[in-house]
Amino acid sequence: MSASLLSRTALRSATTASLFRPTARALASVATSQSAPPVAGKQAPNIKKFEIYRWNPDTPDKKPFMQTYELDLNQTGPMVLDALIRVKNEIDPTLTFRRSCREGICGSCAMNIQGSNTLACLCRIDTSSTAPVKIYPLPHTYVVKDLVPDMTQFYKQYKSIKPYLQRKNPPTSGRENLQSIAERKKLDGLYECILCACCSTSCPSYWWNSSDYLGPAVLLQSYRWLADSRDEFGPQRRMALENEMSLYRCHTIMNCSRTCPKGLNPGLAIARIKKEMALA
Ligand code: SF4
Ligand code: FES
Repeated sequence: MSASLLSRTALRSATTASLFRPTARALASVATSQSAPPVAGKQAPNIKKFEIYRWNPDTPDKKPFMQTYELDLNQTGPMVLDALIRVKNEIDPTLTFRRSCREGICGSCAMNIQGSNTLACLCRIDTSSTAPVKIYPLPHTYVVKDLVPDMTQFYKQYKSIKPYLQRKNPPTSGRENLQSIAERKKLDGLYECILCACCSTSCPSYWWNSSDYLGPAVLLQSYRWLADSRDEFGPQRRMALENEMSLYRCHTIMNCSRTCPKGLNPGLAIARIKKEMALA
């Protein structure tokens, strides 16, 4: 697949003015909202700029660039995803991004907003300043198009940890694999992960070694199954991590735990795996 590696340096070297290429509809929309005088009983426009990373695989000779759009916040929902949907629906249908649930469940709208990896649907538009909102794809990912990162390697690594219950014996009840309340509690802080990859793509170790280091999200998922009292393949799961790269490229930088939009702590899960490996 044709793909472009996100290069911040290249982007910074280009001036915003030279990248400002709004469509005719965008200009019409801005012109209308800026030139119309406030009518009695109507709110004055509250214009906010959004600078958005653009790259199209169908024009591979054209470098990635930032495109600026302006929206009247009085007519836009409160979240960054609301702004993106409005740009796509009303200004520029070529803008491409992933989204599905619009409520922090599916993980598909993960992107880098104002320098932090987060979910666009949970990220409020900053109304405290007039500065533009800058939106990039998840960092250090190959880009499929615009704000859509290529997640192939991420899901390949997820598959590699066998993210499902593995047992040698049928359940003792004959029907279900039961857990005590205390055993079930050990999964809190682990099962809630939505695989958005915000943590892994904020981790410098993952940036440099993503072909072999599993990264915080997949390691958190790995621990989710190691911590599950019903799973009987703990030794095999630990053995799969017993090499230089899969687990031990974590250098406890802890960007992952600061980044997670669901408030999870992948760094703590990794520390617990390391402790279990030392004791095993
Ligand atoms: S741990 Fe948090 S940031 Fe990482 S993939 Fe799961 S939900 Fe996303
Ligand atoms: S759209 Fe599903 S998490 Fe944002």
